[in-house]
Amino acid sequence: MGTILVTGGAGYIGSHVCLAVAEAGHDVVVVDNLVNGSATAVERVGELTGASIELHVVDVTDRAALDRALDAHDVDAAIHLAGLKSVGESMAEPLRYYDVNINAAISLIGALERHGVFRLVFSSSATVYGEPDGVPIPETARRRSINPYGRTKQLQEDLFFDVAAADPRWHIGLLRYFNPVGAHPSGRIGEDPAGTPNNLMPYLMQVAVGRRDDLTVFGDDYPTPDGTCIRDYLHVVDLADGHVAALDALDDVAGCRPWNLGTGEGYSVLEVIGAASRAIGRPVPHEVGPRRPGDVPELVADVTRAQNELGWRAERDLAAMCADHWRWQQQNPDGYRVGA
Ligand code: WQD
Repeated sequence: MGTILVTGGAGYIGSHVCLAVAEAGHDVVVVDNLVNGSATAVERVGELTGASIELHVVDVTDRAALDRALDAHDVDAAIHLAGLKSVGESMAEPLRYYDVNINAAISLIGALERHGVFRLVFSSSATVYGEPDGVPIPETARRRSINPYGRTKQLQEDLFFDVAAADPRWHIGLLRYFNPVGAHPSGRIGEDPAGTPNNLMPYLMQVAVGRRDDLTVFGDDYPTPDGTCIRDYLHVVDLADGHVAALDALDDVAGCRPWNLGTGEGYSVLEVIGAASRAIGRPVPHEVGPRRPGDVPELVADVTRAQNELGWRAERDLAAMCADHWRWQQQNPDGYRVGA
């Protein structure tokens, strides 16, 4: 099994992807600038798998450093997760998001090409769909991102489509994540957002562990059964397994191919709070506040293409997502910080 280069492998999703790829028998090399990641996460993946995961503290936009990392290993394929990923932050700092995310993709493609590596899995996002015409959302739905972060994902997809159209040596998979939550059942790796969490589950869990006051539900007047937004939450271990399935399918991909990674099941904010409260063993204090700008009522994946073409489907339910996320949060109340 060849060596896989994982950019952003020190992050929440990235560390779980490294674990799944190592467990599938690959050697793993990580490049990560640690802006949104932790060297401790990489160390713990090594402990959990018995594999020696090499970490290069490198910014993917640093082409010389990326070349050095690729010179040092016989890389068979790359998984690209490195990038800035906060919707709210992207609205405040659009230029930084375009600069970092687009230049990282350009830098990586160039480095891979120079090293004869033409197999790539890209961490894309359901955000590229913007407000869908309907749910469940197929990969053929129009892409119309509604925020700078989503537009940088859409632009990276366009870059990969064009590169693959120009050079048939490329085999590229675009994985459109819906809402990743949860953690490895060991509780040793998990989500550790820098600053105030933007997303529901990490915020909820920080409230439950006592790091934050009550959770605000952003609106309960949406056109949904209980008035709160519905999302397709996906266990991060299932998500990571989807990357291994995509790697294995790349040789059959002519050019560039998107796949949704979700469960096909939607849960409302209140349903998630209920499931989390059951996992935690006590109610999570919350209050209803105003809507958050940019939120859409419902986002649920059509997952048939990944099932048919990757032989992949999510196996873990919402209860497992909440139980595993809570175990991580309880065992690591301050995330990966020193002394944690
Ligand atoms: C889910 C629901 C909120 C926090 C985002 C990105 C997407 C992807 C996943 C990267 C919404 C509600 C949230 C809170 C709340 N990330 N909520 N109180 O917005 O579906 O997707 O994360 O790719 O790109 O857009 O996820 O977890 O932020 O919100 O009520 O404190 O929870 O309004 O309805 P979202 P989320």
